[in-house]
Amino acid sequence: MNIADELAVHAKEELDHALAIANHVDYLGGMPSVKPKPVKTSEKAEEMLQFDLDNETQTIREYRRRVKQAETLNEYSIAESLRGILVQEQDHLIALATALGIDAPNPGIAD
Ligand SMILES: [Fe+2]
Ligand SMILES: [Fe+2]
Repeated sequence: MNIADELAVHAKEELDHALAIANHVDYLGGMPSVKPKPVKTSEKAEEMLQFDLDNETQTIREYRRRVKQAETLNEYSIAESLRGILVQEQDHLIALATALGIDAPNPGIAD
């Protein structure tokens, strides 16, 4: 696997996710936050990949919950959009775990 090329694909997909989520928040009458979470960095490539994997795991946990919430509100279109994002996040998680030579973690679902 060419890790740099794979991460470049992920970065483009993450931007698309952010734009889709901003549109959903706007549709629901909210205001998208522009405050990013702190980014963990390291001089060690393996640690950076692990941080990225941890973020993807948390992201999947949260999206799984958001799908349930959207369906509870009968917002099936948003739920469908979130499912599409989840498919890509799951792919990111698997790619990162593969790059680290470990099994893909099971993210579970956020409370
Ligand atoms: Fe994303
Ligand atoms: Fe991702």
